[in-house]
Amino acid sequence: MSEENIEIPHIGFGTFIGNEHNKLNESQRKQTTINSIIIALQTGYRIIDSSINYNNYECVGEAIRRSGIPRKEIYLICKGSGNKQEIDDSIVKIFNCRKQDIGKGYNYIDLYLIHHPVFNEEIGFENWNILKQQKDEETVLNIGLSNVYINQLNKLKELVDDKRIIMPHVLEIEIHIYCQEKETVDWCDENNVIVIAQSPLGYANIGMLLDISEVKEIAQKYQITESQLLLAYTINRDIIPIPSSRSLKHIEENFEALNIKLEEEDMIKLESLNTNLPLTETAQNAKDRDQ
Ligand SMILES: NC(=O)c1ccc[n+]([C@@H]2O[C@H](COP(=O)([O-])OP(=O)(O)OC[C@H]3O[C@@H](n4cnc5c(N)ncnc54)[C@H](OP(=O)(O)O)[C@@H]3O)[C@@H](O)[C@H]2O)c1
Repeated sequence: MSEENIEIPHIGFGTFIGNEHNKLNESQRKQTTINSIIIALQTGYRIIDSSINYNNYECVGEAIRRSGIPRKEIYLICKGSGNKQEIDDSIVKIFNCRKQDIGKGYNYIDLYLIHHPVFNEEIGFENWNILKQQKDEETVLNIGLSNVYINQLNKLKELVDDKRIIMPHVLEIEIHIYCQEKETVDWCDENNVIVIAQSPLGYANIGMLLDISEVKEIAQKYQITESQLLLAYTINRDIIPIPSSRSLKHIEENFEALNIKLEEEDMIKLESLNTNLPLTETAQNAKDRDQ
């Protein structure tokens, strides 16, 4: 992913703290979020994935400011319904700026995704054209979708071909070795849509993926951890994973996956593990909506 000639590493950092971290109170959750994003940025991650639903925009903004990394080098992803008021409020929260300064200086979002798009025969997805206006006004630089699959994408393509709407720049969906989504990824490749893998380690089910015997065996061959193998598999497919972690060790370890080149025979072995079953309710619900 490139932004004004700055090459951005093809791995991002997820900022969602899920139920497994429920033991944290609100102030601990915020502190953990800020610290982990600062560590990620200082480790070399440049893509930061957030959403209005994660209730952490102030933390994201504070971490960006405290990290010392120039704003221009950071590729900030936000998600929501795509409604103008919501995007303006998000920018004010993240950058701690005045309403009249939205879209000026550093007060913009690099990529805005409709988080749970609702399909509409006329306009593709609700709010898609409103989001396009935000792009024209440069409050968001790129626009895309999350949790959308092949059937709805095919319908969207008909509207794009009729020049009624524009193509999304990015699609973010759940992808890992257990749920590879080949058909949807192939569609994205054919249509020049960048794919981002949410929950690339299987979220709360990470243990199950790390325990697969083929994963252990191949990780051992390359002398890497099983988590690195899962991320390398995604990166070797030219898909950008956005793992989340609260641990310094894991954040650094995951970033190293960028440097791992897997041999064809190992990619084929990993491909054979596909079931196309997502491990999170979010993706399962989205796939049900696509039927
Ligand atoms: N668009 C959407 O609807 C959507 C849906 C889901 C997720 N997402 C995005 O995707 C991001 C990542 O997905 P996710 O948070 O669901 O889950 P994930 O990244 O697949 O897995 C996170 C879990 O893996 C553990 N982990 C990370 N690195 C590890 C390592 N090297 N070794 C062992 N364990 C490791 C973490 O624990 P530790 O903290 O202990 O490392 C955490 O429990 C989210 O933060 C969010 O930004 C988007």
